[in-house]
Amino acid sequence: MRLFELDDAKCVKCALCVRDCAFRALKIGEDGRPVLPDEAKCMKCQHCFAICPKGAITFDGRRPGDSVPAAGLPLPKGEEVENWLRVRRSCRQFRDADVDRRLVERILKCLGNTPTGCNARGLTFTCYPTRESMKAFKTRFIHAIERHRDGPRLLPRSIAIPAIKMRRGGEDIFFRGAPAMLIVSADEKNPATATPQQDAIIACANFEMLAQAHGLATCWCGFLKMVQLEVPEILEQTSGLSRSTPFYAMLFGYPAVRYARGVQRDGYAKVVFDEQGET
Ligand SMILES: Cc1cc2nc3c(=O)[nH]c(=O)nc-3n(C[C@H](O)[C@H](O)[C@H](O)COP(=O)(O)O)c2cc1C
Repeated sequence: MRLFELDDAKCVKCALCVRDCAFRALKIGEDGRPVLPDEAKCMKCQHCFAICPKGAITFDGRRPGDSVPAAGLPLPKGEEVENWLRVRRSCRQFRDADVDRRLVERILKCLGNTPTGCNARGLTFTCYPTRESMKAFKTRFIHAIERHRDGPRLLPRSIAIPAIKMRRGGEDIFFRGAPAMLIVSADEKNPATATPQQDAIIACANFEMLAQAHGLATCWCGFLKMVQLEVPEILEQTSGLSRSTPFYAMLFGYPAVRYARGVQRDGYAKVVFDEQGET
């Protein structure tokens, strides 16, 4: 099967697809229609497929009629997205309940739309979707800490103290008592990957947005990243993530609290308009 297939009868030779091809892999052929002479140059971003006003392009077997039509699709207004950013929160109090499995599957399916550098894709979404799976993960985590050659007390304090608390059944500073967790990892050996760590973080940010839009609470689990940096063997034994696997993690579940208002961070970041002309 060819990557790029054109329905000649539908193509109106507008060349929108050729102009939108980021790697200039698409060319105008002798008859004025687009051609893809070298498939290896194509990063499979599907922009040609998406932009074609006539639905003349079938890309990698994907037919235009099976796509979400962009025109007329209800989208949140700019103000609504702004509101979302103002009231989104990292939540550290979760209800003691499993998240509806169909909702998790729905969100993870949509998360496949997250962008990756050079369209490398190849992300893995490892989900611990229930309290039971989280409990098993945490048990492996505690065992790995206990079996560590230095013993928990000699590990970095930022890891040892919460670990000792958690082992005693105290506060769960690492995982915030969340009933579920998503780990997004990137394949560092994928030759197309230019930005694996960024891709994983961006996917987590998109997961946060999707999950909160569906009424779930989320909390970034930067702590796992710290474990990878400080004591990578603990993470290897707990999750199979190697010391060099690019990843990020997000805790999630139903919220046990509601925030009554947004925090005040408008103007929090320094904004610089660099409008220097040429010197
Ligand atoms: C990359 C990143 C890592 C984070 N890691 C943790 C973490 O390990 N544990 C935690 O409770 N919160 C973590 N947070 C949440 C931040 O503390 C939180 O975003 C910040 O306090 C602002 O609060 P807000 O998210 O409710 O606006 C992390 C946030 C980010 C962006």
